[in-house]
Amino acid sequence: MPRKQASLPAKAPRESLAEIVQQVFPEDANHVGNVLGGRVAHLVDIAGGLAAMRHAGRVVVTARIGELDFREPIHIGEFVLARARVVFAGRTSVEVHVEVFAENPLSRERRLTTRAEVTYVAIDDARKPVAVPAVRPESVEEKRLFEEAKAAYDSRKRNARA
Ligand SMILES: CC(C)(COP(=O)(O)OP(=O)(O)OC[C@H]1O[C@@H](n2cnc3c(N)ncnc32)[C@H](O)[C@@H]1OP(=O)(O)O)[C@@H](O)C(=O)NCCC(=O)NCCS
Repeated sequence: MPRKQASLPAKAPRESLAEIVQQVFPEDANHVGNVLGGRVAHLVDIAGGLAAMRHAGRVVVTARIGELDFREPIHIGEFVLARARVVFAGRTSVEVHVEVFAENPLSRERRLTTRAEVTYVAIDDARKPVAVPAVRPESVEEKRLFEEAKAAYDSRKRNARA
């Protein structure tokens, strides 16, 4: 019996918040010592997928990376922290925002380096999309992000139909 979204209790973003920390090694970097964009994208996808799976209670696949904005370089020797937060869910899709920070562990200085918006789709054992819980935003910021992500989701649906 396929599950329906309405039968699943909504979840707050804090219930699926995911954080991953890694150290940067020379093999992660280019010839000027900056972490390769692909390495950062990989970390984004892992952290985002963890948050999406925690929300969905299902295996998810990456459907879309809508924005991947590299604002500042990350250097060898720094630690990288990726923080992923679910902002909205459609019927089977989960929208996740990921922020990546670089931290110097000695000075404890931390700066935002990368932001990403990723869409995951939950799949069942037959690898077909399956319903996920709705998102129940709590804070003012979560409500704003929810409305923005919902507008983008609705717009994509309209464009897909056009
Ligand atoms: C993602 C995938 C499961 C969707 O399957 P599908 O048969 O196209 O599913 P549907 O058309 O029924 O759409 C299911 C959901 O996915 C969403 N979706 C599908 N493609 C999407 C895309 N490119 N961007 C955003 N959302 C997308 C739909 O909007 C829908 O969301 P909703 O249920 O919340 O409204 C399928 O395209 C797939 O397996 N893609 C490859 C995933 C993968 O291997 N990722 C790793 C990176 S290569």
